[in-house]
Amino acid sequence: MPVLAVVGGQWGDEGKGKIIDLLAGRAHVVVRAQGGDNAGHTVVNPRGKFALHLVPAGIFNEQTRCLIGPGVALNPATLLSEMDELERRGVSTQNLIISARAHLVMPYHPMFDKLEEEARGAGAIGTTGRGIGPTYTDKLSRAGIVAGDLLYLERLRQKLDAAVARKNLLLERIYNAPLIDGDAIYQQYVGHAERLGQYVAESEPILEQAIRDGRTVLLEGGHGTMLDIDHGTYPYVTTTSCTVGGLLNGAGIGPRFLTNAIGVFKAYQSRVGAGAMPSELLDATGDYIRERGHEYGTVTGRPRRVGWFDAVAARHSMNVNGFHTIALTRMDILDELDELQICVAYEVDGARVEHFPSQIEDLARCKPVYEAVSGWKAPTGDAQDWKELPKQAQEYVRLVEESVGAPAGLIGVGQEREKTIFTGVFS
Ligand code: IMP
Repeated sequence: MPVLAVVGGQWGDEGKGKIIDLLAGRAHVVVRAQGGDNAGHTVVNPRGKFALHLVPAGIFNEQTRCLIGPGVALNPATLLSEMDELERRGVSTQNLIISARAHLVMPYHPMFDKLEEEARGAGAIGTTGRGIGPTYTDKLSRAGIVAGDLLYLERLRQKLDAAVARKNLLLERIYNAPLIDGDAIYQQYVGHAERLGQYVAESEPILEQAIRDGRTVLLEGGHGTMLDIDHGTYPYVTTTSCTVGGLLNGAGIGPRFLTNAIGVFKAYQSRVGAGAMPSELLDATGDYIRERGHEYGTVTGRPRRVGWFDAVAARHSMNVNGFHTIALTRMDILDELDELQICVAYEVDGARVEHFPSQIEDLARCKPVYEAVSGWKAPTGDAQDWKELPKQAQEYVRLVEESVGAPAGLIGVGQEREKTIFTGVFS
C-alpha cells in the first residue's frame, strides 16, 4: 500500500506543512528524510499554530510514528527545544524515532556557516545560518558524527576530538577566528545523549515492516526542488537533494514502493536568500502579495521575495520529480487581484527560451514572458469543493495543472486544515 512523498515544487515554503498535516492522519509513519532545521513547516490545526523545523508533522496524530530519517542533518539542541515546546502545549513526542544514521549538527557547524558566508562576500548564498551546509560537508568528507554515536560516548568523544582538532586548524590558519573547546562541546552532547538516546534507533526495520504490512508511509520534504543541490539554481541552493528521489534515498525506501509523488506549488511563488528568479515582482503587487500572504521566513524572519507563478521552472520541477499529482496552495492570497500573470517562457536577447537554464548566469539573463489571466475578485476561503470556486479561479488551476503536467488533488484556500479542497484526484 501507499508510500506518499510530499515535495516542494518551487523554492520552498509552498505550504507543505499543511498538506503533510492533512495527510499524516492516515499515515502509520511520517518520515522527514533530508535537510535540517533550515526548513520550517507551519502547521495550523485544532491544537493551535506550530512552527516545526525537525519534528515530522505527523506528531499531532497519536497513532503515527515520526521518523527523523538517515538523510537528515539533526541539530539536537533545536530538536530538544521543539520537543519541549510541543510537550508544553500538550502534544506528546513519544512516537519520535531518530535514525542512528542521521548526521548531527555540531556547535561548530553554524560557526563555519557564518564564516563561509562572510568569506563569499558579494556572492553570499543567503543561508539560514543553521550550519546545514557545513554538516553535510563533513558528512561527504566522511568526518561526520551521527546520532548513533550518542549511544556510545567513548566513540563520540574520539570522533569529536578528531573533528575539533581539524576545525581549530581551519579557525586558526584560515579564518583567524577564536578556537573551539572540545570539552565543552562533549559535555553539552552528553546532555543531549541523556535526553535523546532513547529515541535513537535503527530505522530500516521500522520502514521495512510498515511497507510489508501495507501501511501508509508519508515522506515529508523539506525546502523545494529549485533549492536542490543537483537540480536547483546552483550555487544558490541548499545542500541536500529535495526532490522525490532525494526523499526516497534520505528515508531509505526504494523507488518501487512509491505510489504517489505530490508536488506542492504555491499559486504564486516565493524564495528567501539570493539567486535569480525571473518572475520576481519588485513592485507594489509584490509588496501586496508579501503582506497578504505573510511571506516572511519561518526560520530567519527574512522577507521572502515573491513572484508570479513560473511555468518554466514548474516544468523543470515536474521533469526531475515525476509528480503524480500536485497540491496548489494559497489561492486565497490572490483573491483580490484584477489580473494575474503566469510566466510561460523566458526571453534572452530577443529569443524565446522554453527550458529552465542549468547555469545561474544564464537564468539571470532571462526575462519573463507572461500570459495574463483575469483575476476572480471573490473570496475563495469558504469554498468547500471544486464547484464552489469562482470560474476564473478554476481556470487558473487548470492553467497551472497544464503547465506542470499533473492534476491538482488538493487546493489550499486558507491556512487552516479545513480550508482545503480535495478534488478527488487522490483518495
Ligand atoms: P542553507 O540551507 O541554510 O544552507 O541555505 C541555502 C539556501 O536555501 C538559502 O537561500 C536559504 O534561504 C534556502 N533555504 C533553505 N531551507 C529553506 C526552506 O525551507 N525554505 C526556503 N528556503 C530555504
